[in-house]
Amino acid sequence: MISLSKLQQYKAEGTRFSCLTCYDATMAKAMEVAQIDTILIGDSLGMTIQGHDSTLPVTVQDMAYHTRAVRRGNQHALIIADLPFMSYSTLPEAIDSARQVMQAGAQMIKIEGGAWLADTVRVLAQGGVPTCVHLGLTPQSVNVFGGYKVQAKTRSAADQLLADCEAVVEAGAVMLLLECVPVQAAQEVQARFGVPVIGIGAGLHCDGQVLVMQDMLGLTFGKSARFVRNFLQDQQGENPIVEAFKSYHQAVREGTYPAPEHTFQIEL
Ligand code: KIV
Ligand code: NA
Repeated sequence: MISLSKLQQYKAEGTRFSCLTCYDATMAKAMEVAQIDTILIGDSLGMTIQGHDSTLPVTVQDMAYHTRAVRRGNQHALIIADLPFMSYSTLPEAIDSARQVMQAGAQMIKIEGGAWLADTVRVLAQGGVPTCVHLGLTPQSVNVFGGYKVQAKTRSAADQLLADCEAVVEAGAVMLLLECVPVQAAQEVQARFGVPVIGIGAGLHCDGQVLVMQDMLGLTFGKSARFVRNFLQDQQGENPIVEAFKSYHQAVREGTYPAPEHTFQIEL
């Protein structure tokens, strides 16, 4: 069983850890066999499972349902569940939403934002809920960004990112997740803070990597993001999906994924 203290140990000793999104018991079991370190029940299920074109329609009840299913299928990984769009806008809402997904089997919750989440992080920690804060490209804010775009592309935007990380870590966030930021920005965050940093489209210097399961199995129809690699296409044998998960885990451990072509190299 992977615990938060295990991930902290991994960070301290420089062992990179794997994370995949998962929404059901069968895939959760396959990830257990492959020894994936952490599982994210992502609100990306709004797209991958429900067929919406954003994460906005997802409810806390949806998140709890999928968290229960994943929990039953996997006894190895640390399980993180997203709190969906507008389910943590006030402290009472955040507490109620976190309660629902934690009682469904999550061991950590993830929320999107920056320094303004400090009170939320602090109150959840006091209630026994470890929080991961997702920064950079935060898909729940797609309508504010005007699309899915790389973030923290200038020195001042990267400094703002660092200040946001500082505020939430200070408030007790136990993990950070960076999506679509320049390699250098993620490297600075990883070096500055003691908590594990997971990246997606954030380069090789993060402590862990995450991908949406469907993306890494090559089940993305249409244009896929720069950071995606298909781990299924080279697999053979009895159970190619389990092999794809194993191959991803190994590539993250060894630092062969992400490669430079999966990252955003922008001079800050
Ligand atoms: O919902 C999700 O899948 C996520 C990852 C892309 C980090 O938040
Ligand atoms: Na998400």
